[in-house]
Amino acid sequence: MKTPDIPRLIELPRIYDPRGNLTFVQNDDDFMPFKIERAYWIYDVPAGAERGSHAHIEALSLIIAAGGSFNVNLFDGVKWWKFTLNRPFEALFVPPGYWRTLDNFSSGSVCLSLTSLPYSEDDYIRDFDAFMRTKAV
Ligand code: TYD
Repeated sequence: MKTPDIPRLIELPRIYDPRGNLTFVQNDDDFMPFKIERAYWIYDVPAGAERGSHAHIEALSLIIAAGGSFNVNLFDGVKWWKFTLNRPFEALFVPPGYWRTLDNFSSGSVCLSLTSLPYSEDDYIRDFDAFMRTKAV
């Protein structure tokens, strides 16, 4: 049986350079858990604001702190995970079916998300009770 995917940190390639380091991803990289279909980024987050508060039905994501620091909190219906992202060469893999909230954004931080599907509101669960109903056996 295939081991179910769980949230995990993936270390991305780094090219060190005294002029500034460089990190990259491409779809045929061995570590890539999916083919990237979309990228979006969140920035100018005011102090104390929270983003996310939704789950995806099918979309997979890689979340990267392209700048600064923030927390990603994940819930599978039973257990919470908390990740602090603050390294541009580290990506958090988030499978579908996890409730996510993002908070504790540092000033000037940039949250980059790479995802497996084009944007569709149909892929979102934005109501926590509805999310919990998807977990009921
Ligand atoms: P939303 O998913 O609610 O942001 P958060 O990550 O905080 O949950 O997205 C905010 C708005 O932006 C919402 O109206 C949908 C829109 N949006 C797009 O049009 N395309 C996208 O790729 C994303 C991620 C959001």
